[in-house]
Formats: sequence, structure tokens, C-alpha cells
Amino acid sequence: MGREQFVKKIVCIGAGYVGGPTMAVIANKCPDYKVTVVDISQERIDAWNSDSLPIFEPGLQDRVENVRGKNLFFSTDIDGEIADGDIIFVSVNTPTKTFGKGAGKALDLQFIEQTARRIKENSTSPKIVIEKSTLPVRAAETMAAILHSGENSVRFDILSNPEFMAEGTAIQDMENPDRILIGSHDTPEGDTARDELVKVYENWVPREKIITTKLWSSELSKLVANAFLAQRVSSINSIAAVCEATEAEVTEVADAVGRDSRIGAKFLKAGVGFGGSCFRKDILNLVYLCEHYKLDDIAQFWNSVIEVNDNQMERFVNRILQAMFRTLVDKKIAVFGFAFKPDTGDTRDAPAIYICKRLLEERARISITDPHAIPSARKDLAGIDGGAEFTEAPYEAAKGAHAVALLTEWDEYKDLDYQKIYDSMSKPAFIFDGRNHLDHEKLFDIGFNVYPVGKPALTHI
Ligand code: UDX
Ligand code: ADP
Repeated sequence: MGREQFVKKIVCIGAGYVGGPTMAVIANKCPDYKVTVVDISQERIDAWNSDSLPIFEPGLQDRVENVRGKNLFFSTDIDGEIADGDIIFVSVNTPTKTFGKGAGKALDLQFIEQTARRIKENSTSPKIVIEKSTLPVRAAETMAAILHSGENSVRFDILSNPEFMAEGTAIQDMENPDRILIGSHDTPEGDTARDELVKVYENWVPREKIITTKLWSSELSKLVANAFLAQRVSSINSIAAVCEATEAEVTEVADAVGRDSRIGAKFLKAGVGFGGSCFRKDILNLVYLCEHYKLDDIAQFWNSVIEVNDNQMERFVNRILQAMFRTLVDKKIAVFGFAFKPDTGDTRDAPAIYICKRLLEERARISITDPHAIPSARKDLAGIDGGAEFTEAPYEAAKGAHAVALLTEWDEYKDLDYQKIYDSMSKPAFIFDGRNHLDHEKLFDIGFNVYPVGKPALTHI
């Protein structure tokens, strides 16, 4: 297929949870653009080129198969594709630093820096470079400094275009976004680059939903959006703790509060705590930023969102311990769900990791089931003392168990035959519903001792 048929060539560096789905949608919506996703991992690229994609995301397979080989390509030829590209998205991973200054809070920017150097070394024509990864505010300055250093006289324009898609709904979030945010330098060249990217999104997003801002505002907005969402989850989880102490019901409180249109109903589901690759990382990044600017009270405010989340996971473990006569030694606990949320196989920062480790510390035997996250769960718990069993079959996990702990609200867990599960378990049988996902009265009638989050327990003992 001749390249000349495409109006522009888009390259995305990083074929992960962000790069893959984002580019699949852009390629579907913009048949005139050639979209190539590149990565250093041959294994990942091979998987994107196969029938078995490296990530599970509803609707993704369809979108990829529809355009792969037409205007969507996956390649490890990073240098060649950079040289050929007009618009370069950077969506490599930016984990929290684990060493040196800012360890545990600041972002590890080594992959970004490597990428910026690689773009510079391989560019002989002007490029628009777009930050898609979560980056600390003013990261664009660093990218710009690298890109414009030395002898290279190529023109680079840097834009920030954060993604707001959530895993499990990534495709629909991208196809029907609340907004698209594009930050650019306030210069004529910045405006031109911005308009190029607006043109891409205008293929399917109404213009009034495309917000354009200063570069710094766009970078900061991404952190703030995730911090606000996480803060809502911690707020309702803090109230769940109050409900458990006072016998109010957190779902009733959330409903009553969320119906105030100023507050809104979303992100008020109490549970075992938030997980995922973004919330903790972005808040830590915000905290680091505040500390850098000596805004210590603000840093403390946002840090408390994480503290509540950590305590929420520990409270859940304590509830199990208390209910089961203060010892879990040699008791079998079936863990229903390991992914950090349903409809994804992703387990990054999943509450299940912490909770399972704690249960093993208490010397419980655990049997983990999840429809898509078992391979990741195995890696997350590799080398942990006590070991865990893994199975995709929930009935198998529950056989002979003293308790079921539901940590991810997969739809299919609603439709299981809980009578059959109860019959196969040791008695007294417990269910700890960490997501308030199941029919608690029905479970109680079957004979279970039921412990929801933020609601009184229903017990026979
Ligand atoms: C988040 C943002 O929503 C998205 O806009 C951004 O681009 C990436 O980060 P994601 O982490 O994929 O997306 O999932 P999200 O749906 O936000 O859930 C995050 C965590 O919060 C999950 O562990 C979920 O179980 C938890 N959560 C969410 C709750 O416990 N209660 C809620 O009411 C909502
Ligand atoms: P995210 O959720 O941000 O998409 P992932 O870890 O799923 O994070 O994906 C990031 C991808 O970026 C990985 O596939 C990784 O191999 C790739 N990557 C990291 N550094 C580079 C680099 N210097 N060049 C190309 N790809 C990179």
C-alpha cells in the first residue's frame, strides 16, 4: 500500500494499555492517516500482530482487526517509523520512581528521556510530539530541552494530550469522550501544531468537546482529574468505615448524597479501595509537586486520599479476621476477582495484591479465581511465602473454603449458583463482599454469614 495515499503519518511510541487502544480508535476513525504503534518489546508487538492481543479490553479486538494492515500497523522499527512520522504520540510507561530522590513519589522519567533522545536522533523533518503518558507538570520543558539541544535544526512542536479513558471502557471512552484536552505553547507555531491535532480528533469528536489550553494547564489537569476521582472513592470509603461502626448503610448514604446534582452519583461506590496504574501514581506525583513548591498543607491533603485507601484495604482484612474468630491459620479463603476492576486483566496496584499478601501473612490458604487476570496474579504473588492456588473456575476455588472474599465485581459472579458454592464449603461459611456486588439477603437465606462493605453484617452466629 503506497504511503502517499495517507494525509499524515501518526506514530505512537509505547504499545501498552494507553497506546494500543488509543491508536486502534484513531486508525478506525481516521482512514486517511497511517497509524503505526512501535514498542521496544518484540513480544508485545508480536501479540498485537496476532489473534491474541496483549491486553483484554472489550471491543478492542474488533477495532484492531478492522484496520490492522490497512492503516494500523504494529512494529519494533522505532527509528524508521520516527524518521517517517509527522505526528508522534509518546505513551511509554512512567512508573513511580523506586530509587534515589523522590523515590516512592516522583515519576521515573528514564523511559521518557530515552524516547525524547531517540526522536531527536532519528528526525530529519519537522515533528509534532505529543505527551500521552502521565507526566509531571512542566515535563514538556524537559522534552523540549532534549529535542532542541545540540546541532539538530529540525523543528519540534510539543503538545500535551492526556488520555481520560478508563480500563474496561477504554474504547467507548475514546469513541465518545466527555472531552478531549490539548495543551500547547501560546505561540503561532504552538497554535499550528494544536490545530493539526484538533483536525485528527474532529474526525469523530464534536468541536465543542475539544478543549484547548496552555501546555501546563493540560498536564496538570490530568493529575487533578485522577486526584478528584480517587478522592471521591476515598471519601465514600471513609464513610463506609463510619457506617460499619454505626450500622448506617453506605449504599443508602451514597444514594442520598449523590442525588444532589452538585455532588453527582458517580464514583461513590464503597469497596476495598481503588487500584489501577493511575490513581496512586498521579496523586503521589501531585503530592511531590506540592512538596516541591513548599505547599505542605496541600501535599498532606492529597496524601490523606492515599492513606484512607491503604487503611480501607487493611480494614477489610481486619473484618475477615474478626469475623472468623480472630484466626485464619490454615483456613481456605476463595478470592473472587484479582483485577483492579472488572472487564480488564490488569492488576497494577490492585487491592487484591495487598489483601492476598495480608491473608497469606495470617497463614490462610488462598485460592484465587478471575476470568482474565490469573496470569498477572501469578506474577504479582510469585515468591510470596505460603503460596496461593489459581484457577479460572470459581466453583473450584470455593470447594472446601471457609470463606469467599469478593474483590472484583465481575458480572459473572452475580450469576453463580451460591447454593452449590455453600454446599461445597466448610461451615460456618462466610462471604466478604468487598464490592457490595451480590444479593446479601439471598446469601444469608442460603446459610452464609455475609459481610458487605459499609453495611451491617448478616450472620447466623
Ligand atoms: C482512571 C480514570 O478513571 C481515567 O479517566 C484515567 O484515564 C485513568 O485512570 P482506571 O484506573 O482505568 O481509570 O479505572 P477507574 O474506573 O477510574 O477505577 C479506578 C479504581 O477505583 C478501581 O479500582 C475501581 O474499582 C475503584 N472505584 C471506582 C471504586 O472503588 N469506587 C467507585 O465508585 C469507582
Ligand atoms: P500504559 O498503561 O501507560 O500504556 P504500559 O506499561 O501498558 O503503560 O505500556 C507502556 C509501553 O511502553 C510498554 O509496552 C513498554 O514496552 C513501552 N516502552 C517503554 N519504554 C519504551 C521506549 N523507550 N521505546 C518504546 N517503547 C517503550
